[in-house]
Amino acid sequence: MSIAVYPGSFDPITNGHLDIIKRASKIFSKVIVAILINRDKKGFFSIEERKELIEEAIKGLDNVEVVSFNGLLVDFMKEKEARIIIKGLRNSTDFEYEHQMALMNKKLNENVETLHMSTNPEYSYISSSAIRQIVSFGGEIKEFVPANVEMAIKNKVKINLN
Ligand code: PNS
Repeated sequence: MSIAVYPGSFDPITNGHLDIIKRASKIFSKVIVAILINRDKKGFFSIEERKELIEEAIKGLDNVEVVSFNGLLVDFMKEKEARIIIKGLRNSTDFEYEHQMALMNKKLNENVETLHMSTNPEYSYISSSAIRQIVSFGGEIKEFVPANVEMAIKNKVKINLN
């Protein structure tokens, strides 16, 4: 069985992430979306909220599982008996960062392979941080995130304003 792990912060999941998950799910027998638990950083959404939002967005993709992890990605991979890391590449800036990370993960565990998937050009300018920034200034994000995420963001902003 070929298991691929797609790690990230997913705060929140975007249409770009979703596209990578869908494409990976057609190639591998199982895809594990792994949300990094970062104790040093308070996110926009909690880890549990991010997990629920991803699960709702991927409904119908039966070979995709969503989990959270902390610590080293290579340790998580070992625990899941997975060897393949999937990462999306939007541009050359991503490449510099992702290439370094891939080399480091390889150094930490030589059995792990990172496969880079070029982002669909339609989504290549979308990032979670841009979404958070647009939301903070009251901008429209409908085009960039799954519908359930748009709704959750609107609800959260409403709660924070009250
Ligand atoms: O969506 P992001 O924030 O770019 O995802 C980064 C992530 C989660 C893939 C990366 O930070 C990660 O793998 N963190 C776990 C710690 C680790 O294993 N680091 C690699 C050695 S530098």
